[in-house]
Amino acid sequence: MINVTKAYLPDKEKYKQYIDEIYANGWLTNNGPLVRRLEKRLAEYLGVKNIVLVANGTAALEIAYRTLDIKGYAITTPFSFVATTSSLVTNNIKPIFADINPQTLNIDPFNIKKNITQNTSVIVPVHVFGNGCDVEAIEQIAKDNELKVIYDAAHAFDVQYKGQNILNYGDISVLSFHATKLFHTIEGGALIINDDNLVEKARYLINFGIENTESIPELGINAKMNEFEAAMGLCMLDDMSDVIQKRQAVYEQYQCELRDVVQLQEQNAHSTQNYSYFPIILKNEAQTLSIQKALNEQQIFPRRYFYPSLDTLTYIEPKQYSPVSRNISKRILALPIYAELDKKVQMIIIDIIRNNV
Ligand SMILES: Cc1ncc(COP(=O)(O)O)c(C=O)c1O
Repeated sequence: MINVTKAYLPDKEKYKQYIDEIYANGWLTNNGPLVRRLEKRLAEYLGVKNIVLVANGTAALEIAYRTLDIKGYAITTPFSFVATTSSLVTNNIKPIFADINPQTLNIDPFNIKKNITQNTSVIVPVHVFGNGCDVEAIEQIAKDNELKVIYDAAHAFDVQYKGQNILNYGDISVLSFHATKLFHTIEGGALIINDDNLVEKARYLINFGIENTESIPELGINAKMNEFEAAMGLCMLDDMSDVIQKRQAVYEQYQCELRDVVQLQEQNAHSTQNYSYFPIILKNEAQTLSIQKALNEQQIFPRRYFYPSLDTLTYIEPKQYSPVSRNISKRILALPIYAELDKKVQMIIIDIIRNNV
């Protein structure tokens, strides 16, 4: 069975050495030595100032809103994984959708501008499939309107924009380290915080708002990463250049074989790619479903990702309609891509697509 992705498992012996360390010191969670080691190594690897590791990407989004005291309305994209929007709703922030660019699949800055009102407090864009947003236009809009920017960078591990890590844009960027992601810690996530003064607050917020045994200054949640997860991250980090290189080969094979056959996501010319996803956009929903069925018959399972468009969620108030996102979400398939994807299987996938368009 071939799924859209396959979690990367690093060398078992190396992982066991970290587990031995955990058994020796008995420290399982609560800002343990491996979490701190991973934070330090990731900050160096990514070239970012402040990183706070957390239990998952969804918690990272929630902590970001709380760290910046976001209230009122957020302008966000309807074309994302549900957590981008549901995390706003659970924090009593109303999502207002700015429709996407149909080529880049990222939020369109022009639509952000159109939707700003006096109740808007934050912009929450997503670097969709690791494709860098128009960060400079978004920065300008935020500045002109005194808005915060929180990037959902769940897909954007190791993406550079004009020579520096894209995570350095915005007030906070949020990563997901779920097992299906390019870099993972089984479950996990991180906040990249650009204002040094906010880091301490975020650290209280991930630990129930507790400062020390005497003081609980913030309303927090439990969003701590544990030591076993950090151990996985430390192992993964050693292998990242190999993982990315192998994915790049898979990506380029698809690109070469399919670029004249189906629509591909237009990449930001100023940013690098991390090869974490390979979405194809088909003519219509019927063609999308028939290709999905043909692949499923060969035990190959691409994913309708992102589907459905988030403006169709029944719990969204006010009700909204984002035609571009709805249209794309009905005719997009994310193809299997991971370091060990067999070349022969990849050619079967390509042939099935070629024969069904
Ligand atoms: C764009 C996006 N945002 C947020 C998340 C949530 O991350 P997590 O699964 O780590 O909670 C995901 C996860 O798949 C995602 O793809």
